[in-house]
Amino acid sequence: MVNYKDLGLVNTREMFKRAVAGGYAIPAFNFNTMEQMQAIVMAAVETKSPVIMQVSKGARNYANASILRFMAEGAVAYAKELGCEHPEIVLHLDHGDSFELCKDCIDMGFSSVMIDGSHLPYEENIALAKKVVDYAHQYDVTVEAELGVLAGVEDEVSAAESHYTKPEEVIDFATRTGCDSLAISIGTSHGAHKFTPEQCTLVNGVLVPPPLAFDILAEIEKKLPGFPIVLHGSSSVPMDEVNTINQYGGKLEAAIGIPEEQLRKAAKSAVCKINIDSDSRLAMTAAIRKHLAEHPGDFDPRQYLKPARENMKKMYIHKIVNVLGSDGKLAQC
Ligand code: 13P
Repeated sequence: MVNYKDLGLVNTREMFKRAVAGGYAIPAFNFNTMEQMQAIVMAAVETKSPVIMQVSKGARNYANASILRFMAEGAVAYAKELGCEHPEIVLHLDHGDSFELCKDCIDMGFSSVMIDGSHLPYEENIALAKKVVDYAHQYDVTVEAELGVLAGVEDEVSAAESHYTKPEEVIDFATRTGCDSLAISIGTSHGAHKFTPEQCTLVNGVLVPPPLAFDILAEIEKKLPGFPIVLHGSSSVPMDEVNTINQYGGKLEAAIGIPEEQLRKAAKSAVCKINIDSDSRLAMTAAIRKHLAEHPGDFDPRQYLKPARENMKKMYIHKIVNVLGSDGKLAQC
């Protein structure tokens, strides 16, 4: 059993309190590889931002649970080496689907876990979330739970249809589970194909998706004033990355994300954690495709992973500074 505090990590409690009060959101970036981890840390240090590094069950299967855990420990050391004396790095389990998985992560040094019982009947979702909270809080690990279902596919998590969070349930759910933050469904979804072109409106040649349900968010905030709210599925699927991928041999059709203005607006509310995974995948793939097309003789992975890492870092910095507003928000630099 390792406690996250011994690894130099922090939980989400204090950073969420400051983010809700300050009207900004903490970035929650998924990682599976060393290059993603390095880019996340470089971006967080350069912008002096707290950051959540999150790992899904699929990432643990891909990279190995122990390796990811040690990479997060390495992230703290790396941030310090880069000149940040007091980094605020959370190691978070994304979409935990069982008590056992959450417990395993807590016992391995995670500082935050999500238990996703959103697909379960209401009472079962509460019972499962409460069981995880009761265990996690013994070790001061924070817990995110979810009400409402997001559509889309992400690792093992998939749902054909979304169901918006019902504001009338949130007080009962938050009180009875004791969760520290609540992921809600207001129109975001996982993956790079969040909307069909038919759901969008064509404005000046650009497909604009329907707006998020800010009325539901406002009702939730009214019921739970100051309570930390989480938005999953918040990649904006930048067209320049999609175009680069397609220009250099890819085939990504009808990729549509959440416009950044919508996320900026959400970040100013009680939404204090915004999850971004697909944009990192796109940034990495675009840079690798471009590099290999322009340098067909290259075969050393460092030759194409270096520009991939640079491109991800640029994207992370852009999100932190121009969308979420968490730059300069470390408690101590
Ligand atoms: P995106 O697919 O929009 O990046 O969402 C990621 C996410 O919500 C991880 O939980």
